Amino acid sequence: NELLQQVDSLEAKNAEEVEKLRLKYLSKNGELNELMKDFRNVPAEQKKEVGMKINELKQRITDRINALREACTTQESGDEAIDLTRTPYPIQLGTRHPLTIVTNEIIDIFSRMGFVLADGPEVEDDLHVFTRMNFAADHPARDMQDTFFVSQHPNDVTKNILLRSHTSSVQARVMENMHTEDGKLTGPIRVICPGRVYRNEAITARAHCFFHQVEGLYIDKNVSFTDLKQVLLSFAREMFGADTKIRLRPSYFPFTEPSAEMDISCFICGGEGCGFCKHTGWVEILGCGMVDPNVLEQCGIDSKEYSGYAFGMGVERITNLKYRVSDLRMFSENDTRFLEEFQAAD
Ligand code: PHE
Repeated sequence: NELLQQVDSLEAKNAEEVEKLRLKYLSKNGELNELMKDFRNVPAEQKKEVGMKINELKQRITDRINALREACTTQESGDEAIDLTRTPYPIQLGTRHPLTIVTNEIIDIFSRMGFVLADGPEVEDDLHVFTRMNFAADHPARDMQDTFFVSQHPNDVTKNILLRSHTSSVQARVMENMHTEDGKLTGPIRVICPGRVYRNEAITARAHCFFHQVEGLYIDKNVSFTDLKQVLLSFAREMFGADTKIRLRPSYFPFTEPSAEMDISCFICGGEGCGFCKHTGWVEILGCGMVDPNVLEQCGIDSKEYSGYAFGMGVERITNLKYRVSDLRMFSENDTRFLEEFQAAD
């Protein structure tokens, strides 16, 4: 009982003194163990009561010493204190990659126009990348996109496995899965396919062996070129500003007929002509066209009943234009000085 009363008055000024207290009371030869030795001599009928007292004493001393120790560490540690419970500063906030920012923006705009996302494999077969897209087996158009082959079949190109060179392969997969046996659509197709694509090109400031695309596809009854033009105009205005103008120039793609390339009025000079648009007033941003009936038939859709349009753009290209990135390699170097510049855009 006497010891119990002392406990609360135990004091220590520093860690050393705390340690002394611990040795005095709690160590092997400390006072508590001395008490335990005497325990043997306690008459049996008092053992229970005394035992409880000793346990209480031990608990109180341990608590007191721990409290003293804690008080000492907080006091002693000055500015260099390591408080493991505190939040570490400064917090290094990551930034979204510029290509992700722009891809999301593109997805956002088309989502609002009713397009839904579609996804597919990056390692693809020839069938979906080329054959279904109306590239004949010996057609020179196959050379348009320098392809990385994973495996090449000796006498059947459609069995080749390759890294997809455009995300049109995803469109092929969507079309295959959206019709009945007699070529009727199970519903209108309105998808955008964002993703990474690969082409066998030397890596320079202006070309890379991979880049990112967003392609779009709309198939239904009576889809016309006018629909395509309006959707692309809306996109250009949302992406580059409300007074952006577009122009379509005739072009060629195996999977669209007619095909076009779309330019937007230069958003630097507003179409007057400046160094940025090489004094033409226009900058090219995407390819598009009406889905070739052969593509529809290849994918099992009745081309007499349905028509559609498709478009495809390079995300790097759009990002370069919007943010004036001059070297494509920056996108895959992960230099944080470059990436941090996009913090505000996110
Ligand atoms: N697939 C084309 C490419 O990779 C882009 C495109 C898509 C063009 C759809 C027209 C229509 O270059």
